[in-house]
Amino acid sequence: MTYPTKISWQFLLFASMVSSSFSAPLNPSSSTGSLVTTAGDCYDYNIPVTTKINAVNWLLPELSDNFAVAGFFADLIARDSSTAFHPVSAPQNTTSFANFSISATFCSPKINSGHDKTVLLASHGLGFDSRYWTSQANPSAYNFVDFALSRGYSTFVYDRIGTGKSTKVSGYGESQFSYQLAVLASLTSSLRQGNYTGTIGEPSKIVHVGHSYGSILSHALVAEDPTISDGVLLTGIAYNASTTDFAAFVEASRLNIANTVEPQKYPGLDSGYLEPADVLGLAAAFFHEGNYDKEILWYADEIAQPLSVIEFVTGSPLMLTKPIAYTGPASLPANLLCDCNGILQHPAQEIFANASAFEAAVHPGSGHGINFNYNATGAYGAMLDFAKKNGL
Ligand SMILES: *[C@@H]1O[C@H](CO)[C@@H](O)[C@H](O)[C@H]1NC(C)=O
Ligand SMILES: *[C@@H]1O[C@H](CO)[C@@H](O)[C@H](O)[C@H]1NC(C)=O
Ligand SMILES: *[C@@H]1O[C@H](CO)[C@@H](O)[C@H](O)[C@H]1NC(C)=O
Ligand SMILES: *[C@@H]1O[C@H](CO)[C@@H](O)[C@H](O)[C@H]1NC(C)=O
Ligand SMILES: *[C@@H]1O[C@H](CO)[C@@H](O)[C@H](O)[C@H]1NC(C)=O
Ligand SMILES: *[C@@H]1O[C@H](CO)[C@@H](O)[C@H](O)[C@H]1NC(C)=O
Repeated sequence: MTYPTKISWQFLLFASMVSSSFSAPLNPSSSTGSLVTTAGDCYDYNIPVTTKINAVNWLLPELSDNFAVAGFFADLIARDSSTAFHPVSAPQNTTSFANFSISATFCSPKINSGHDKTVLLASHGLGFDSRYWTSQANPSAYNFVDFALSRGYSTFVYDRIGTGKSTKVSGYGESQFSYQLAVLASLTSSLRQGNYTGTIGEPSKIVHVGHSYGSILSHALVAEDPTISDGVLLTGIAYNASTTDFAAFVEASRLNIANTVEPQKYPGLDSGYLEPADVLGLAAAFFHEGNYDKEILWYADEIAQPLSVIEFVTGSPLMLTKPIAYTGPASLPANLLCDCNGILQHPAQEIFANASAFEAAVHPGSGHGINFNYNATGAYGAMLDFAKKNGL
């Protein structure tokens, strides 16, 4: 087995930090300087969020080792899984409360072109944190936030619970879908009130942007409350049962207990947090050979975050196939670990039948990690062209 060689993304990262600090110092209010960007003024926040949900319970023993993980996924993708395998209970009728601290960064464009009060609220997918949107390796090619700022939009990115600098929670409990959804809903209403929006005050529009699990969350959000969003830009999501190739995706990523793969890297995470056994698992899940730079694969490996087993089993696009009342514009420049040509459009179009505008496109050549393919800026351009065309 030949591994790709790790060359110099650190050098690229270093170079990009040096050059931006020469050309435009970070805004002083950006306390931790988590985001290096020349196109905007950025503010870091730790946001307290209180949630109440009807939680599901984890029904299986906690994963004891990687043999148990292999067994778990074999059961999950088995033909009779939907009837025979029950890792979680139905939602309980008692309300569960929890408080989280959410690490987030808001940026507004340095040059106002009239869109600065439109905030793109981006939710990352499984396996990453907010840095999925803010690559510091070759940012002109891979950094969504930079791109959006240069188009004059404001951005809000956050680490979903259990990832990055947000609250560490159990991989068998609070990382489940409903808590994640409650957090997104809470962040959205805070932004609406003009909280955590730097100097722009109340946004005129909030557009929900997602990748993969973040798209599932954004979709569930507008399905529950059609008025909560002014637009959705969803990537890495497909609703057609025959597109998802779920079993291949699961097996190819070769998930192991994160603390056995990188024992020191994730203090505070229990055995419910999994990550690819090596960089080839990451490549298989998110990258398409021939369409990416090995450097960016290594960078993605560096910033990757474990995913939790309960978030994994509680959120799926296949639970979202009912038409929704949402009437704002929707865009799905989607791509999955499959050839989605011909099957992306349906049933997506029927689900968003009442959307004021709808577009579904296969982003050519890309793997599931759209922000890391050679033509990531092509995807950003398509998303933001759509936004602009629809008055966002
Ligand atoms: C919740 O309440 C409903 C209606 O009373 C009942 O049918 C259901 O079984 C309950 N669910 C659980 C998980 O107890
Ligand atoms: C959440 O925070 C509120 C306000 O500080 C507090 O009253 C409540 O007990 C906390 N809930 C939990 C579950 O920690
Ligand atoms: C959000 O904004 C409202 C209105 O300005 C304010 O009353 C409230 O304290 C803010 N909440 C937080 C958590 O900052
Ligand atoms: C879509 O709009 C039509 C016409 O207004 C309405 O009858 C229908 O209920 C809407 N669909 C959903 C899922 O809300
Ligand atoms: C899934 O895609 C296939 C191939 O285009 C299509 O025939 C089928 O109707 C789609 N399924 C749904 C539910 O739209
Ligand atoms: C780049 O992406 C855009 C949007 O998906 C697409 O239209 C364009 O053809 C792509 N360019 C290449 C060279 O693949």
